[in-house]
Amino acid sequence: MFFGKETAEEYQLNPEKMPKHIAIIMDGNGRWATKRALPRKAGHKAGAEALEKIIYAAKDMGLEHLTVYAFSTENWKRSEEEVGAIMDLLRMYLKNYFKKFLNDNVRMDVIGDISRLDKDIQDAILEIEEISKTKTGLSVHIALNYGGRDELRRAVGKIAADIAEGRLNPTDVTEDVITNALDTAGTPDPELVIRTSGEERISNFLLWQIAYSEFYFSEVLWPDFDKTELQKAIYYYQNRERRFGGRLK
Ligand code: IPE
Ligand code: IPE
Ligand code: MG
Repeated sequence: MFFGKETAEEYQLNPEKMPKHIAIIMDGNGRWATKRALPRKAGHKAGAEALEKIIYAAKDMGLEHLTVYAFSTENWKRSEEEVGAIMDLLRMYLKNYFKKFLNDNVRMDVIGDISRLDKDIQDAILEIEEISKTKTGLSVHIALNYGGRDELRRAVGKIAADIAEGRLNPTDVTEDVITNALDTAGTPDPELVIRTSGEERISNFLLWQIAYSEFYFSEVLWPDFDKTELQKAIYYYQNRERRFGGRLK
């Protein structure tokens, strides 16, 4: 799987073939905690710390966009205790910690339907998005109460309203019109999607945007995912052949 390589130095990346956008399904926090006989919330805390490091690694590598799946529309099915712990962690990061990224010229925004989140969390998100407008570095997109189907449902609603109010003809609904009605409008599609923890499914992440993405599945649990693991994933991507339905020669 890893080309028989052992150390980070062996995963030499080609600067000319760097992806612009990587999307990550950060999975395995619960199993990480269970393995250590800790409560699941300790896994989520360790997961948030791993994300901090990956944001800086992505910035150092010169990526333009990083989209991370933090909470899905399906994750509300978890126990009240676990959802509460995730929301508390989110609140803490949004109000305190994320400002540090902004000071380092990182831009941040949220994709997903934030209207279901507590008001103070929504306000913190809007404030971060406002400050981000003045930043020019890596864009970090956090998927919160995000579901690919829910995003498409909301996009269809917007397009239907444009048609009903006479701003758009049904025959003018191009792929670009749909792309621009999604939460990810303005962000190029991810070239690479990474999922940690050994699961190999998409779990309702970025359904429209991944039409031609490459996939990389890592056995590593998210709290253990680090810069070397990210480098491996990019190395793997750089050594794949992307065809987009055509032929190379
Ligand atoms: C991912 O880790 C974080 C969220 C979904 C919020 P999990 O909590 O899904 O961890 P596992 O899959 O149970 O190990
Ligand atoms: C996907 O992980 C969502 C996030 C990482 C936020 P899940 O752990 O919720 O996905 P399933 O339940 O294994 O499909
Ligand atoms: Mg999981």
